[in-house]
Amino acid sequence: RSLEVVPEIGSTNAALLAAAAEDAPEGTVLAAEHQVTGRGRLDRVWTSPPGAGVTVSFLLRPDVPSARRGWLPLLTGVALAEAVGEVPGVRTSLKWPNDLLAAGGAKLAGILAEVGSGAVVVGVGLNVSTRADELPDTGTSLALEAGRPVDRAAVLLQFLRTFERRYLAWAQALGDPVSSGLARDYLAWCSTVGADVVVTLPDGSTLEGVAESVDWDGRLVVGTTQGVVELASGDVRHVR
Ligand code: BTN
Repeated sequence: RSLEVVPEIGSTNAALLAAAAEDAPEGTVLAAEHQVTGRGRLDRVWTSPPGAGVTVSFLLRPDVPSARRGWLPLLTGVALAEAVGEVPGVRTSLKWPNDLLAAGGAKLAGILAEVGSGAVVVGVGLNVSTRADELPDTGTSLALEAGRPVDRAAVLLQFLRTFERRYLAWAQALGDPVSSGLARDYLAWCSTVGADVVVTLPDGSTLEGVAESVDWDGRLVVGTTQGVVELASGDVRHVR
């Protein structure tokens, strides 16, 4: 395992994907003080002022059946929620698949998983001391939620611990989300299940319904007037 922290980079995910092509080992961790071209899900960008957040990526080559690798971004969300749960005064939940929301529903963190060269690179962007005027309307930071400064390094270290614990338990269970306890714990953190949702699908169309559950492959099960739909990806908005 190795952890490298760099002052500035384009994208920690892009850098680890390039490293994966050069056979970098499982467990390589790269964090940056500042990302210039941070990437988000669904072709969005992730911006964070220098030094204001945690931007970190993991290069993983889990020895689990490939169908189960889809749990990695959800696992990362659970580990992040657990780590952030240590910050007094901050209550969070996970919006499916893996956005970390504060109690009022604003976004604290996003997770992007990308696949290349037989590896999975999972990256996390967490707003720690970002000010309100530096955030989109739908975003928030740990300091804003806690109402006082939050130690960024302490949050990162705690996250590295919770991530490692979760990842090893899951890998040891050969990626089984049930026997490793991951599916249960994910559902406990997930505020999407039970909510009325509007989902924007990858093709741009939208779908409305009630989020009923997350199945064993990590897909969101939505009850709509047209019947039950299982979603592998999409952009969810909680409407109630
Ligand atoms: C999202 O909410 O759309 C996902 C955001 C993911 C951002 C992180 S920051 C570290 C890693 N490197 C990137 O370029 N993106 C991810």
